[in-house]
Amino acid sequence: LTLSLGFCSSHTYVLDDKAGLGRVFDGIGGLSGGGVSYWSVTTEPYRSQILDYLFKPNFGASLHILKVEIGGDAQTTDGTEPSHMHYENDENYFRGYEWWLMKEAKKRNPNITLIGLPWAFPGWVGHGKNWPYDFPDITAAYVVNWILGAKQFHDLDIQYVGIWNERNYDSKYIKLLRYTLDKNGLERVRIIASDNLWEPISLSMLLDPELSRAVDVIGAHYPGTNTVMEALKTQKKLWSSEDYSTFNDEVGGGCWARILNQNYVNGNMTATISWNLVASYYEELPFGRDGLMTAEEPWSGNYVVESPIWITAHTTQFTQPGWTYLQTVGHLAQGGSYVALTDGKGNLTVVIETMTHDHSVCIRPPLPPFNVTFQNATFQLKGSFASIKELQVWRSQFNFKTKKPSFFEKLTPLKLLDGTFTLNLAEDELYTLTTITKGQKGSYPDPPPSARFPKVYKDDFNVGNPPFSEAPNFADQTGVFEYYINLTDPGPHVFTLRQVVTERPITWVSDADQTISVIGDYQWQNLMVTCDVFMESVKTGGVFIAARVDKGGQSVRSAKGVFFWVFADGTYKVTNDLAGQTVLAEGQSGTQAYGWHTLSLTVKGQYASGQLNGYPLWKNAVVLTPKNGWAAIGTHSYELAQFDNFAVVAE
Ligand code: GAL
Ligand code: CA
Repeated sequence: LTLSLGFCSSHTYVLDDKAGLGRVFDGIGGLSGGGVSYWSVTTEPYRSQILDYLFKPNFGASLHILKVEIGGDAQTTDGTEPSHMHYENDENYFRGYEWWLMKEAKKRNPNITLIGLPWAFPGWVGHGKNWPYDFPDITAAYVVNWILGAKQFHDLDIQYVGIWNERNYDSKYIKLLRYTLDKNGLERVRIIASDNLWEPISLSMLLDPELSRAVDVIGAHYPGTNTVMEALKTQKKLWSSEDYSTFNDEVGGGCWARILNQNYVNGNMTATISWNLVASYYEELPFGRDGLMTAEEPWSGNYVVESPIWITAHTTQFTQPGWTYLQTVGHLAQGGSYVALTDGKGNLTVVIETMTHDHSVCIRPPLPPFNVTFQNATFQLKGSFASIKELQVWRSQFNFKTKKPSFFEKLTPLKLLDGTFTLNLAEDELYTLTTITKGQKGSYPDPPPSARFPKVYKDDFNVGNPPFSEAPNFADQTGVFEYYINLTDPGPHVFTLRQVVTERPITWVSDADQTISVIGDYQWQNLMVTCDVFMESVKTGGVFIAARVDKGGQSVRSAKGVFFWVFADGTYKVTNDLAGQTVLAEGQSGTQAYGWHTLSLTVKGQYASGQLNGYPLWKNAVVLTPKNGWAAIGTHSYELAQFDNFAVVAE
């Protein structure tokens, strides 16, 4: 066989509903979880613009689904998210940013599907054991409270709830959760399980009809576009309930284009949800820029609408949850895939992708080899679609060779002859052909240019009625730091920031044994950090300020840096690590609980020195590594403590 230039394979594909339809489509979504949303403090109008690119119908990604973390006070990838019940007798439905985010999404798209899923739980839920199923009634009540709170305080209807992200499930708990939902009038809320692999949940459901009745959706993570026989046998909806998590350059966009189509073509999945919604956390934290778009500089307002936004638009702007896939979907002869969906009222949307292997690799699982080459594809519309005369055409071309991609471009509508049309498909392209005449490539003027974190930064936390419980730019890595009002303080410290987690949570990864919140520029080397501190644990309390902190996320336990600690027993320490194993200096400080102290830490080159209440306490501690990192505050254990007048001056 010889290939000559100009020769091109041609093939005909029939799109037909005569033999019946495929599965009902449930939508494309984004996931906000893992402490990845400090864009919530981005100044207006940029914050609203970002929200529009994500949620506004006929504008950008126009997402159908928003899935959020049910905060559990523990580290869940790039930070901690606060629980609605830090303590057993505590309930507060105004913490964190997920409530706000759900409302903003809903304002733009009142039909958006809302999902909640826990990664971690406060320690009391497990009575101190790192396991949420010993007291399943407590866990179920805790989760149902969150759903009730969403309705009562925010008028948000959570439609789906999950079990425990990528961790064990427990059949007894799932049934009890169903029972508890029903008992609270939440029959309409559906259960997704188990947000891990297809197995063992599929087999458990086949063997246990009661479990099968309790679960509405089997949600698998990073399924590589495939499912398994047992999952199909359950006859349940199959979702890729978390996917993508790929660096959002053009290859990331290619990954997303391929899986959005092929999750249905290969795996019968009717929803795909991206981790995460928007890359909005310090880029040096784990999985930097793994979001549909990037908004990682709340201090500058800069954001970037990345290719996955426009890839999403190809499906979301021309379909809705409740549409139905045709049975006639599949692979193209020379590689790539096509799906077709209908609203059952004559509308048709066809999405075709020709992503090549190397330009569509996702973070996981490994991608087996395949070939995609230039091809002519003829589509023949039959059944209810035979009489369609015209289709709107939207195209994205990645153009990896010229590095000049064009995304979501509206072309001249196609006139159909006898219900057929032919496309010349090149590699790495995405087409939508649709009877829907709406659709728009939304745009705003360019946001402000990218800028480094300000070198001079302070926060006195003097905010009477803060819109969020968390202070801007701080990224909690263990523990939760909240705005706090000290009604008994004589004046200078009425408004402070307080660490509030007092017991080790049921963790999702290995949180540190200390609490810590990082802030600033990871490139900072030479700087002075100052903060007023207030311990609330007599004798046993301890707090620190730090510089050059080199790790967060799931590695936070092994964070190194320069940590200046004072303790309520009247001593101080300087350590090279958060765990406190490498001691650089130590001695008496006279510090106690229930009094304010001012700590200052100066790091310059290989030397560090510390001041207490304006007087030198120690100096010339030798710090060889790390050479750079974030500033931080935190506590010695899971204990209450307050911070005020945080300030950094960096070189
Ligand atoms: C998933 C997890 C997410 C996030 C992501 C990063 O397995 O559920 O929370 O950590 O990995 O790739
Ligand atoms: Ca203050």
